Amino acid sequence: MINNLLVEMKNIKKNFGRVQALRGVDFNVGKKEIVGLLGDNGAGKSTLIKILVGYEKADEGEIYFEGKKVSFNSPKEAREMGIETVYQDLALVNLLPIWRNFFLGREIVKGITLSIEEMKRITSEYLKEIGIWVRSPDETVFFLSGGERQAIAIARAMYFGAKLLILDEPTAALSVGETRKVLEHINNVREKGLSVIFISHNIYHVYEVADRLVILEKGIKVGDFKKEDVTPQEIMNIIAKAAGVILKEV
Ligand SMILES: Nc1ncnc2c1ncn2[C@@H]1O[C@H](COP(=O)(O)OP(=O)(O)OP(=O)(O)O)[C@@H](O)[C@H]1O
Ligand SMILES: [Mg+2]
Repeated sequence: MINNLLVEMKNIKKNFGRVQALRGVDFNVGKKEIVGLLGDNGAGKSTLIKILVGYEKADEGEIYFEGKKVSFNSPKEAREMGIETVYQDLALVNLLPIWRNFFLGREIVKGITLSIEEMKRITSEYLKEIGIWVRSPDETVFFLSGGERQAIAIARAMYFGAKLLILDEPTAALSVGETRKVLEHINNVREKGLSVIFISHNIYHVYEVADRLVILEKGIKVGDFKKEDVTPQEIMNIIAKAAGVILKEV
């Protein structure tokens, strides 16, 4: 079993002043597994992944990646080990062209010169592979839709050989059509053998792509199900109950 785990987080605790953001959470991600992370606002979802990638430090707990104990000091360190995080807004630099965004901080250099043409070619190739068409890799990101931005970040993770892709609310501000495409990209990523943590408020989006669903509420894990063992309605009921809301049976 251990060998099939890519990520193992054990007994993670984190307080922000008097707020107990995480109260002893165990969270695992298997190899090639897509895990949907659900829960209401303030449940601790983002904090959990920020701790995983070294953006925040846990007060207590242990993290294993590929079976080795890790403690990343920054998202950059995590990225070097193969963990890419895609946020809704932070992912790209608006005023730079697509190809610059694709290679930002990891440019291909030959001698002392940037291999610009090669980077443009790879950018076009990978975007095509993930199924999005852009007029030119020279276009600035500013003009792209939310869905296209997500696609660039996902294609970039694939090119740089990420083992784990973390998507924090990737569909929050997208139209229905764009959401559909991002969900397709996530399915593509699975076929490439990556693992994914997919955070969303939308149970139906998560349900569609996830193999397993983990529910956090007020810093506690209140559910951990294989998809085939639970329905979206049951998940909604768990979230509502944990949040202290009583839903009428439908
Ligand atoms: N840097 C911080 N300083 C103080 N409190 C924080 C900080 N980050 C998170 N919190 C608090 O910790 C709790 C968990 O926040 P977190 O962002 O992890 O929730 P979330 O599940 O991602 O919510 P959302 O769905 O709204 O994104 C919240 O009460 C939040 O206000
Ligand atoms: Mg969040």
